[in-house]
Amino acid sequence: MQHNPTWPVAIIGSGNIGTDLMIKILRGDGPLQLAAMVGIDPDSDGLARAARMGVPTTAEGVDGLLNMPNFSDIKLVFDATSAGAHRANWARLQPTGVRMLDLTPAAIGPYCVPVVNLDEHLHAQNLNMVTCGGQATVPIVAAVAECGIVSYAEIVSSISAKSAGPGTRANIDEFIETTCAALQSVGGAQRSKAVMILNPADPPLLMRNTVYCLVGGDVDQAAVEQHIDAMVTRINTYVPGYRLKQRVQFESFTSENPLYIPETGKFSGTRVTAMLEVTGAAHYLPAYAGNLDIMTSAAKSTAETIAHRTRETAGATT
Ligand SMILES: NC(=O)c1ccc[n+]([C@@H]2O[C@H](COP(=O)([O-])OP(=O)(O)OC[C@H]3O[C@@H](n4cnc5c(N)ncnc54)[C@H](O)[C@@H]3O)[C@@H](O)[C@H]2O)c1
Repeated sequence: MQHNPTWPVAIIGSGNIGTDLMIKILRGDGPLQLAAMVGIDPDSDGLARAARMGVPTTAEGVDGLLNMPNFSDIKLVFDATSAGAHRANWARLQPTGVRMLDLTPAAIGPYCVPVVNLDEHLHAQNLNMVTCGGQATVPIVAAVAECGIVSYAEIVSSISAKSAGPGTRANIDEFIETTCAALQSVGGAQRSKAVMILNPADPPLLMRNTVYCLVGGDVDQAAVEQHIDAMVTRINTYVPGYRLKQRVQFESFTSENPLYIPETGKFSGTRVTAMLEVTGAAHYLPAYAGNLDIMTSAAKSTAETIAHRTRETAGATT
């Protein structure tokens, strides 16, 4: 008997993130098969596109999904709504046992930044994909933390205002809290700060991220640069437009010439600065919206890995 090589998934949320993810899955070469697109706005562009592309749709939210005839086939549900809506969706879906990949910053499940820690959480029923800023910067902090103790990491993420839908705007506080927490628990920083900018420039600008890390003591600058370059290369396997805007910068602070930090006092060591730019694949919004790609590509790659591992465990032939 031949096993079906596809792995049915659903998306809740037919806005910017959900629609970009839908297009990526439909253009992918498996194993994910988009079995449902779920929204609450029957007039949304995302639901209309899904219907045009032959994807089963419902505008009745999570209840509409639960009532779809193929619901029991669905292995994993992506949630691209908002943190508040995700909490409600999770309450309805958790009892069914279906897996959820949460693209909102609700942070119910463990944080997943696939290039850093996916293997730790492959079996979690609810996995949180942090934030676009987190997917772009946590790996860089983790790369620096491989070379020394990161006593403080600060990131600044700038996305074009046009690419932030109402769901994103409702979740600015959650963005800050979730990104900050992931910089520590996944990135390995002892303290952290996250800043987000909705850039109103028109024409819109590409997503930019700046990562500052304070590393105590002597740091091997060549090793830090190598680890960051290697991390960028790994992220490029799923986001080709992610790149360092310029070479990694290093600034040294000695005990005679320390950096004064209001909360913690004098710091001596090295400040590592990485400046990143993300050009999107323009699957839904134009290429300036790399913030969509860094999140949806990380989520798709995570789901593909879960699908492959689940089927290996089940002894399925692919
Ligand atoms: N835009 C980005 O760059 C970005 C990047 C990473 C993560 N995120 C996160 O993704 C989420 C969505 O952001 P967005 O920019 O796509 O917002 P958006 O407003 O464009 O999309 C949200 C969609 O969810 C739908 N929705 C809301 N409640 C729902 C419910 N209960 N059931 C079904 N559908 C529901 C809305 O109708 C809308 O179509 C936010 O939590 C945001 O923080 C956004």
